Amino acid sequence: MVSMTEIVVQRGFPEALRSEAAAIYDEAFAQQLSIAVRNDTDRRALLAAIFDPHYCFAAFMGDRLVGLAGMHAEEGSFTGGLLSGRPTLGLLRSHLGPVQALRAAFAFSMHRRTPQHNELLMDGIAVAEDCRGLGIGTELLGAIENEARRLGHDTVRLNVTDVNVGARALYERVGFREVAYDSFPYMRRFLGFGGSATMELAVDDRT
Ligand SMILES: CC(C)(COP(=O)(O)OP(=O)(O)OC[C@H]1O[C@@H](n2cnc3c(N)ncnc32)[C@H](O)[C@@H]1OP(=O)(O)O)[C@@H](O)C(=O)NCCC(=O)NCCS
Repeated sequence: MVSMTEIVVQRGFPEALRSEAAAIYDEAFAQQLSIAVRNDTDRRALLAAIFDPHYCFAAFMGDRLVGLAGMHAEEGSFTGGLLSGRPTLGLLRSHLGPVQALRAAFAFSMHRRTPQHNELLMDGIAVAEDCRGLGIGTELLGAIENEARRLGHDTVRLNVTDVNVGARALYERVGFREVAYDSFPYMRRFLGFGGSATMELAVDDRT
């Protein structure tokens, strides 16, 4: 665990930090992402290439990138759809080759979401493992809520799997409520989880 210094949250991150961002995201979602792309190096290279930093908030402690919260808008998204949409097969093929690309496309399709009008859809939130529990996730969610308010949206929406009890507790603490639940127990052995809750945060219009 690192010692607490000031956390600064900003929109996006410099190009030079793509690999650091991929490492944080991969460490956080390795279990889900490794089903789609088994090789660690390929997976991190795919993430580093695919990220669109404009669609995220990034948390820093000093110079160190320590957390990311992705967004998925109608016109673009942080992960190009890996965890909240449908990445194009062409893109996966160019990074992974034809066989791996098909497996990856199927696994990623389980995470498909489409942003609705008037909502900000999240595209993953991840904090470096040694910095968790310091309030960084809470700060990132605050930035997401402010962005939703700035855009005039009514809600922030995300999905959390049935095995991610810790993240769900955090979402409930900041005001998210479950609005739907998809159960697919037959996929548990393949995906590592057998259900996914859709949670929403109502964005009030305080300025
Ligand atoms: C979920 C996550 C982003 C939270 O970030 P964080 O900076 O640790 O969050 P905060 O410090 O603001 O809040 C801590 C809360 O997060 C939850 N939490 C989830 N996993 C945790 C972990 N490994 N360590 C500490 N807290 C965790 C707890 O509810 C905790 O509440 P508490 O402080 O009352 O005990 C972070 O744990 C993470 O990156 N997890 C892996 C990726 C992931 O699961 N993302 C969410 C997918 S839906």
